[in-house]
Amino acid sequence: MTVPTHLVRPEIRAERAYRVPTTIEADAKVDQNESPYDLPDEIKRAALDAFAATPWNRYPDDRPHRLIEAIEKKEGLPAGSVIVGRGSNELSHTLGLCFLEADTPVVLPSPMFALYASVARMHGAKIVDVAAGPDLRHDPDEILSAARRSGAPLTIVTTPNNPTGQTIEHAELERIAEGIPGVLVIDEAYHEFLDGPTATDLVMSHPNVLVMRTFSKAFGLAGVRLGVLMGQPEMIQEIEKSRLPFLVGRLGEAIGLEILARPELVADRVAELKAERESLEAWLSDLEGVEVLPGAANFFLVRTPLDHTELRAAMAERGVLIRDVTGYPALAPTDDRPGWLRVSIGSPDENRITRDAFAAILGLEVAAS
Ligand SMILES: Cc1ncc(COP(=O)(O)O)c(C=O)c1O
Repeated sequence: MTVPTHLVRPEIRAERAYRVPTTIEADAKVDQNESPYDLPDEIKRAALDAFAATPWNRYPDDRPHRLIEAIEKKEGLPAGSVIVGRGSNELSHTLGLCFLEADTPVVLPSPMFALYASVARMHGAKIVDVAAGPDLRHDPDEILSAARRSGAPLTIVTTPNNPTGQTIEHAELERIAEGIPGVLVIDEAYHEFLDGPTATDLVMSHPNVLVMRTFSKAFGLAGVRLGVLMGQPEMIQEIEKSRLPFLVGRLGEAIGLEILARPELVADRVAELKAERESLEAWLSDLEGVEVLPGAANFFLVRTPLDHTELRAAMAERGVLIRDVTGYPALAPTDDRPGWLRVSIGSPDENRITRDAFAAILGLEVAAS
């Protein structure tokens, strides 16, 4: 018998599996917007001890109640406003399950974190694209009118946006929430790096707002897999019906609780990463022929006179992994400009190595560092 792959839904068969190279061995791994900082050993030990003291043969709570309560308290939200998932990637599937059917319009500004479009396609939804302007920013009026025109039950925005690092102002988010016919999801994966308010307050003032967060970036827990969805309890209660029980086990919960108990550690690291970002962006921007799009998150975009493929390969040869984002049409090369590359902010050592690699490749004298 042949393998009956034709029985897999055509929307799934049409997708490409989301595969990310798992190279960790690099002198500067600045390609996945991760935190360069692992947790200190004593914090890891405390989480492991808390986990070891629990019965491993017993199911955990159907959902991680203690972590949920800690997040509600931190965000000033009432009980029942938070879902914790296995990373926000996993929660984006929940959004698809809850809001998208075949031909449902969904407003997705582009370029934007690619997973959302993939989830939409897998449900057969109709993506209503809102293209960024030449400055790679999105016009809130265009998002508003796309949502109104299509009647989309779901509009998703990311601020700061990945892969561009650009933002939508809080007042504009509020205007979008008030003007659209459906639900507005605001993905704040990088909000800790932003000099500005979060959108959490909109959750309670606007019943159609959901805010998505992750422990993978500023909290440095990409390997643990914890993501957060916040909304008004009535909405969260409905969404919960689509969720599998036990998705987050006791270990993830213990680790999440440890990091939430240490806001000063996170704040110190974020402050350092922001200062490093500014200095690397400024250094690169001063170079002849180099264009930098400064970001409000822990990464920025860069293009140089070199072809983007050559530049990325030359960086990799020097042990620096950066991300080719030219798969997004808005970031692809044009007749007169090479494509954009995305550089995340690493540790000070990684950033020095990254800077020296750029300097060597672009033929500059490397200043003593
Ligand atoms: C905008 C955005 N949302 C969500 C995620 C995924 O986060 P998680 O690790 O929680 O699945 C990313 C990861 O790069 C992202 O850039």
